[in-house]
Amino acid sequence: MARILVTNSEGTPGVGQTAEMLARGGGGLDAIEAGIRLVEADTSIRSVGRGGWPNLLGEVELDAAMIDGNSFRSGAVGALKGFLHPISIARAVLERLPHEMLVGEGAARFAREIGAEMADNLIPDSERVWREWFEDKVPAEDRKSWPDVPLTALCQEAIDPEKGMDTTVFLALDSAQEIMAGVSTSGWAWKYPGRLGDSPIVGAGCYADSRFGAAACTGTGEMAIRAGTSRAIVLYMKMGLSLEAAMDEAIDDLRQLKGGLLQRITLHAIDRNGSHRVVAVNAKEQLTYWLWREGEDGPHAEPAELVDL
Ligand code: GLY
Repeated sequence: MARILVTNSEGTPGVGQTAEMLARGGGGLDAIEAGIRLVEADTSIRSVGRGGWPNLLGEVELDAAMIDGNSFRSGAVGALKGFLHPISIARAVLERLPHEMLVGEGAARFAREIGAEMADNLIPDSERVWREWFEDKVPAEDRKSWPDVPLTALCQEAIDPEKGMDTTVFLALDSAQEIMAGVSTSGWAWKYPGRLGDSPIVGAGCYADSRFGAAACTGTGEMAIRAGTSRAIVLYMKMGLSLEAAMDEAIDDLRQLKGGLLQRITLHAIDRNGSHRVVAVNAKEQLTYWLWREGEDGPHAEPAELVDL
C-alpha cells in the first residue's frame, strides 16, 4: 500500500511539509498537524486560522479536528477565540483528555492550560472588510446598541458566498499503513456567534478508518452535518463499495437534502489502496487540490471533478 496525501488548495502553505514528513516515514498525525499549522499561520489563506473571516460580531472563531483512523480517537475544538493553532489544541484534546470535543470558553481554557500560543486572529484586512459589511448592512438603530441587538435577521443576510466557506483538509495514509485526517477553518464569514460548521464534527467534516479510508469536506458545512458526509463515504467503503461508488452514494445523499443552505461543498477521499477522489459539488469555478504519492518528488496540483446537484 503506497503512502498518499490529499489536501485542498487552502493547504498550499503546508502540503510540502506534510509530504516531506510522510516521505521520510513520519506518522500521519504528526505530518498533518505540521502542515495545517503552516496554513493556520499564513494570513494569505483567508478561511483558516490567523487571517480567517470573523463572525457577525467581528470576532474570529476557529474550528479544527483530527482523527486517528487506527484508534478512532478524535480531538476537536469549536468556536475557539484567541489562539494561533487550533489544530494542535484539537490534537491535545485527542491525546490528553477523555473527551472528543471542546467548544468556546472551555476550549480556550484548555488551550491556556496546555500553554497553546495565543494570537489576535483578526488581521486588519479582515477587520476592514467586516466593518464595511457592518456599515452597509446593520441598521443605524442597531449600530447604536451594538452588540446587544437581535442577530437572527442579520444572520440571514450574513452569508457571503464570496468569503469564508472554505477550510483546509488533509488526508494521509502513512508508512505504517495508518490513515489519518485533520481539518481547520474559520467557518463562514459573518456566521452567527457560536456557529459550528462541519469541521469540528467528526463524521461530518472528516473521518478516517485505517481499514478502509478517510474523507473530509470543505464548503457548506451545514450540508455535511446533515448528511454525515465524511462518515458516510467511509462507511460505504466498509460496506464494499469502491471509493468511486462510495462518493457517488454520498453525493446522492446530499441530493436528498431539502431546504436550508444548499450551496457548494467539496468532498475529498482516499482509500487504503492509495486511491483518491476529489469532487466539487455545485462549484462555480474549477477547483484544484494537492496530491502526493509515495515515490513522487513532491506534491502536484490536480483539477477536482465537478458535479452539480
Ligand atoms: N466547511 C467549513 C464550514 O462550513 O465551516
